[in-house]
This record gives sequence, structure tokens and C-alpha cells, in this order.
Amino acid sequence: MTATIAEDTLSLAQLHGSLTDPALASMTFLNEIANRFPQAISFAAGRPFEGFFDTELVHRYLRRYERYLRDERGMSQEQVRRTVLQYGRTKGIIHELVARNLAVDEGIEVDPEAIVVTVGFQEAVVLALRALRADHRDVVLAVQPGYVGLTGAARLLDMPVLGVASDEHGIDLADLRRVIDTARADGLRPRACYLVPDFANPSGVTMDLPTRRALLDLARAEDLLVLEDNPYGVFSADGTRLPTLKALDEHHTVVYLGSFAKTGLPGARVGFVVADQPIAEGGLLADQLAKIKSMVTVNTSPIAQAVIAGKLLEHDFSLVAANTRETALYRRNRDLVLAALARHFPDPAGPVRCNAPGGGFFLVVDVPFAADDEMVEISARDHGVLWTPMRHFHDAPAAARRIRLSYSQLTPDQIEDGITRLARFLTTHSTPEKGSQS
Ligand SMILES: Cc1ncc(COP(=O)(O)O)c(C=O)c1O
Repeated sequence: MTATIAEDTLSLAQLHGSLTDPALASMTFLNEIANRFPQAISFAAGRPFEGFFDTELVHRYLRRYERYLRDERGMSQEQVRRTVLQYGRTKGIIHELVARNLAVDEGIEVDPEAIVVTVGFQEAVVLALRALRADHRDVVLAVQPGYVGLTGAARLLDMPVLGVASDEHGIDLADLRRVIDTARADGLRPRACYLVPDFANPSGVTMDLPTRRALLDLARAEDLLVLEDNPYGVFSADGTRLPTLKALDEHHTVVYLGSFAKTGLPGARVGFVVADQPIAEGGLLADQLAKIKSMVTVNTSPIAQAVIAGKLLEHDFSLVAANTRETALYRRNRDLVLAALARHFPDPAGPVRCNAPGGGFFLVVDVPFAADDEMVEISARDHGVLWTPMRHFHDAPAAARRIRLSYSQLTPDQIEDGITRLARFLTTHSTPEKGSQS
């Protein structure tokens, strides 16, 4: 029987197909659970620690940038006002400062003209995918498990995402080759492969150096771009940092997607894309992305850019230096989570095991049952602890019995308490008899 729909009501069937895609529902689901169970300790949100937030810093950074425009760029007060408060250059106003940050922290030498400052990573990836999807044959590859921001953006643009398997090296290159070959045999055009080489979300895995080099060689040989997303690379627990793919890139193979959400200020919503690929008809891919941007967000808020610029200036362009307190805190939190899990589940061959990432915000725990949205709800309601099912990041069978823990936002007490609650939940649900009682 078909339900009658009132004349003034729209049906989802009349709207874009992405609106019923699970990728777009993932964030809403976790927010909704968190709102319903506010007492639950949350290992779900991948947000930066808020304890160091200070609105006074916004004023300070803004003043610092104004001083830079006046003293180092020779602008009059009127020009400063216009730069910060007027509509601005489509590609952004802080591209030169971003280029200096990339040189200082990442060893990436890039022409500032190849940078487009965006509204976070999210806009950057939308611009890149929009440009690469010439028609229905174009597909993007993505390492699985992968960030929902990529999957969701691709879905909005009707661009299929083909999953590539990952392993402890960060990507299974044999699988990448297989996916490329199969796609081509099916008449598709793999345009780019998206991945997070450093302390990935959600896996916490870091790609080793030989794999980075081999990936670049393979991508070049296969005429495939690499979309490198690097929001967590700064947060190395022991200070070891591998060169980014972009730093190793000698042939314009890598489009680098940057975000200041974790290293600058998430509320500023500033990110960028480095797209130095030459275009046959002239200019760079960045210029084409800017055309798209002019029809999406027109330009990234110059006020927000100015705040991020002030932070860069204040720390001599090093976000590694600017984040020493944060990095130490994330390392401490990671160690506390690992120690608490080891205390509750001492058997390294037992059913509850976790990886030990070298940095970032996330780790992954194997659990003895299928961890789905229903289990999240039970965990929040009955045990007061929230986490993210790996199912949200890919649908391979291996994901069913895995969860992601984010430890960036918690205090030591919350971690102790939260892991005790999690252990109780996992133990209760390890035995079917007990589990079915809850
Ligand atoms: C893998 C990954 N990329 C990018 C981002 C940041 O995106 P944005 O700059 O849009 O906040 C996140 C944040 O959660 C992330 O986990």
C-alpha cells in the first residue's frame, strides 16, 4: 500500500540519492546518540582537545596578521581593512603563509599560486572531485577503511568510490593495481586515489617510507593522481615524522589536501588544497579549482584566514611548534587508553585486541561480536560509553567486529572511567547468554 503524501510534502525519492546514503547519516547518528545519553563518556568524536581553546587568541592572531600586513607588506590601514573585511581573492589571501608553513613543517616546496585556501578539507575535496569527474566513467579510489568526508563528498557528486584494501603498511599496493585493472576492464576511468598516510582516521595506521615511494611510482605509471589528506601528521607521539607524499612527489602526482581544523582552530573552518598540476591550456589545476570555488563558497572568509595566518606568524610558520602541548596531551591519552585496555584485557591473543598508533587521535579495537549501531546504543544506554563502529568506515566483513576509539578530547579520569565502562560492556556482550539479557 502506498502512503499518501500531502501536496506540500517532498519525498526523499524526489531528492538526491546521497540523502539516503549511510555515509551522510554517520555523523548525525553519533551526535544524536550523544545528545540522548549526555552522561556517556565519548570515544566517538574525533575533535581536538578543547582545554587550550581561548577566544582571546582570536583577537591576538587577528592583530598579529594586521601588523604583518602593515609592517611587512607595507599596506595602509585602509588596505588592511579591505583585505580582512571585504570580499577577497578566490584562491585565498594567506597562500604565501601557508606555503611557508608547508616548507617549514613538511619540507614541501610549492608555488603559493598552486594553493587554494578553502573552507576546511571538506571543501578542498569537493573541489578536487568536482574537477576530476568529467563524466560517469570517472571514479575515485579510496583506501578502506576511510574517512566518511571523502565518501560523502563523492556521493554528492555522483562519483563512485572503489575501495582499496589496506594493511599495516597503509595500503595494499597489489590490491590497488587489481582495482585499477578491474575498473579499466569495466570501462571506468580511475582518476585518483584518496588516502591519509599519517595516523589515519579511522585506523591510526601510518604508511611506511618504501610504500610511499612505491605508491608514487605506481600512481605515476598508471596516470593516477593521489589525493593526500594530512590533518594529523603533526601529532607524532615520539616526534618521528615521515615525509609526506607531496614532499616526495617529483612529478605532480599528488594533490595535497590540508586542514587547520586540528592544528589551527576547528571553528575557523580553514583548509587548503595544493594543486600544482600544470594544465595544457595554461595555468595550474589550482586555477581550475578556484573557478569551481567561486561558485561554491566564493571565497574563504578572510577573517577566518586572518586568524589562522596570525597563528602561523606567531609560531614562525610551524604548526609542529604551535602544537607541542597538544601533541604531548594526545600522546599521554593514547598511552592511558593502551594501558587501561591492557589491564582489562591482558591476553594479547584474546578476543579484545587493539593497535598502537604512532600518533594522531584514533586507535582500533577488535571486539568479540558484531559492533553495529544497535550495540552503540546499548553501550551508551546501559554502560555509559560511546564509540564508533568501524562499519561506518567500510563494509568489509573484517570491519564488523571492530570499533574506533578516539582519545583526543578526554581527561585522564574520563579515560580510566570510560575504558572500565567499555570493558564491562565488552565482557557482558562476549558471552551470548549474558549479552542477550541486556
Ligand atoms: C581524515 C580527515 N580529513 C580531514 C578532516 C578535517 O576536515 P575539515 O578541515 O573539513 O574539518 C578530518 C576531521 O575529522 C579527518 O579525520
